[in-house]
Amino acid sequence: MRAESVRGMRDVLPDESQLWRRLEREIHRTCGLYAYREIRPPLVELAELFARGVGEGTDIVHKEMYVFPDRKGLQLALRPEATASVVRAYIEHGLHSRGDLAKLYYLGPMFRYEKPQRGRQRQFHQYGVEALGSLDPALDAEVIDLAAELVSSLGLSRERLTMRLNSIGCSADRPVYRAALAAYLREHLEDLCTDCRRRVGENPMRVLDCKRPGCREVAATAPHSAHHLCKDCAQHYGEVKAYLDTLGLAFHEDYTLVRGLDYYTRTVFELCSAELGAQDALLGGGRYDDLVELLGGSSTPAVGFAGGLERLVLLVKEREGTESEEELDVCLLPVGDDPRVRGATVKILRELRSSGRSADMEYMDRSLRKAMQVAARRAQWAVVLGSTELDQGQATVRHLASGRESRLPLESLASAEGWPR
Ligand code: HAM
Repeated sequence: MRAESVRGMRDVLPDESQLWRRLEREIHRTCGLYAYREIRPPLVELAELFARGVGEGTDIVHKEMYVFPDRKGLQLALRPEATASVVRAYIEHGLHSRGDLAKLYYLGPMFRYEKPQRGRQRQFHQYGVEALGSLDPALDAEVIDLAAELVSSLGLSRERLTMRLNSIGCSADRPVYRAALAAYLREHLEDLCTDCRRRVGENPMRVLDCKRPGCREVAATAPHSAHHLCKDCAQHYGEVKAYLDTLGLAFHEDYTLVRGLDYYTRTVFELCSAELGAQDALLGGGRYDDLVELLGGSSTPAVGFAGGLERLVLLVKEREGTESEEELDVCLLPVGDDPRVRGATVKILRELRSSGRSADMEYMDRSLRKAMQVAARRAQWAVVLGSTELDQGQATVRHLASGRESRLPLESLASAEGWPR
């Protein structure tokens, strides 16, 4: 057997996981600031949840979902996204009864059988928020603001990112728009790819998603969903834009933005970065006012977004480079062959760790000079321990960056005052 990972599923190695943890901390912090509480749905759900929720005809369900039977023949799926899971949990646990608005966020792996490329894996990680229970356009703006704030708190400049915004209206607007779009697309059939020609009859809005140049050209002059909105949806869209202006959030109205999942209604948005290349969506989301009811709950409007953590990592890494090795507080370097030394080193190591100082010792039997070089890359302080130190009950603690040293008692090294800096 060759030791290799499954295509599209990659390891995050320690050098990079340091950056992942920083981003995760920032996600928890920002979601907390906006009063979202964490939910952790399982990775496996009934396949039917996504077929109904995300849509049988979407690429995600139709082509990309990992579906398998359990031992009793129940059709299960590795979650391709988390919105349907969150809605399922919201209904199952009656979360609406604990307060009228449920503001939830999540972070974790998702699975889609896509063609792997830069920024696109088969196992990837999403962070996302879902606010269930209100139609207020201020909530749409809050969700967009949270997404933008998160990205700028990570030091990514908003100028290099584009917030694409559109409204695709409610379920009553959809047939009217679909008919207008299909009529237009039928006039341009010869310019569309084979897939899109089929889509015109099945789900014409998917044509607007197609990345092929010919289809994009046709999409660019297609009728706009935002021009086929009922009075309430038009007002809602206008208010969302007004709130975004109030918050000073720049956006670009993109009438070809329809998103690849069937549950959306009204507001849809995507934050894109040209630096990501073909997979340019850093995050995306929108309203889904019919989904809770579709999955068996009572009619509940909702809005949310999700972003790919790998894509965030790519951008932050490009900006900052990979971070250095994680810094350790202390490295203990036992020397000589006095049998007491290693026992004393192990004991002091334990005391340092118990007192809250991260510590490690030299296990590789390197020369003191070499061990000191390694310690200088890893730790703030080094302590050399030999029989002389044990006899005197004191050791020299060296601050590796400055070279300053102090003699400190071994008995109380962990709690001793006067560590050099
Ligand atoms: P989505 O657009 O399918 O939306 O995915 C959201 C984000 O996940 C994308 O913008 C991208 O950053 C990342 N992503 C998607 N697929 C991959 C992949 N194969 N590899 C790496 N990153 C990927 C949703 O999933 C909706 N549930 C978002 C939502 C939440 N809408 C309302 N609430």
